[in-house]
Amino acid sequence: MLPNRIITLLINLIFMFSAGKFVSSCIYKAVGDKVVISFDDAILQKDNELKWTHDKQKVYLRKGSQIKLNQLNVSEDGSLILENIQKDQSGEYKGIIYDTDGKLITETVQQLCVLEPVPEPTVLFECVEKGVNLNCSAVNNAEVVVSWMKNGIKTSATRLFLHVTSSELKSGDNFSCTVSNQISKKSAEVVKPGCVVTDLHTTTANEDKTREMNNQSENKNIKGNCS
Ligand SMILES: *[C@@H]1O[C@H](CO)[C@@H](O)[C@H](O)[C@H]1NC(C)=O
Ligand SMILES: *[C@@H]1O[C@H](CO)[C@@H](O)[C@H](O)[C@H]1NC(C)=O
Repeated sequence: MLPNRIITLLINLIFMFSAGKFVSSCIYKAVGDKVVISFDDAILQKDNELKWTHDKQKVYLRKGSQIKLNQLNVSEDGSLILENIQKDQSGEYKGIIYDTDGKLITETVQQLCVLEPVPEPTVLFECVEKGVNLNCSAVNNAEVVVSWMKNGIKTSATRLFLHVTSSELKSGDNFSCTVSNQISKKSAEVVKPGCVVTDLHTTTANEDKTREMNNQSENKNIKGNCS
């Protein structure tokens, strides 16, 4: 029997082909970028009709040399030019070229995702009885990937909140978090929580040893009181 993963992949492939063409995946761009969406191979002829839509709304229409709608810039070869893009310009762009008889020559579809770069995070920490609580802050949108470094080594943690138990914590340990999305990545400054480790078992054990040592020194030197 085929593993489930392969079956899922096959179903997806069948679905994509039966839909007529591949669903184009998003191109990710930062706010302020310039994007050019072109036709793959077709050459725009002078008498062709050219139409561009954004989320099915007409944004450009030219019939031969007559420009009927001109909300966005289009180059000589028919490519759509988007400058200083903003988040509301995300979505599906479709360009279509027809010949003079209205027959379809070619079309191109592109999904555009415009994102804000992630803000620089900061690590906030709080020493607690059982270790340390750390927060990776300054992240106000859900579309970020979070990772944590402990002593310069990447951990498996992927949440904004990280708890490190006292048994996993040494006094000099340092921490940082990194947040990223498809177009940017930023790391927080390294923090050294330096929490006093108050693990109940070690404390009790140490107290017992101290008491033992005190007893011994009392036996040897009654005047000594150097605790
Ligand atoms: C970390 O975040 C949690 C939940 O959002 C909050 O309860 C806690 O006080 C925060 N701790 C610090 C040190 O900021
Ligand atoms: C964090 O810890 C690592 C490993 O001990 C060390 O190499 C690095 O310099 C430390 N970073 C800071 C900023 O203290």
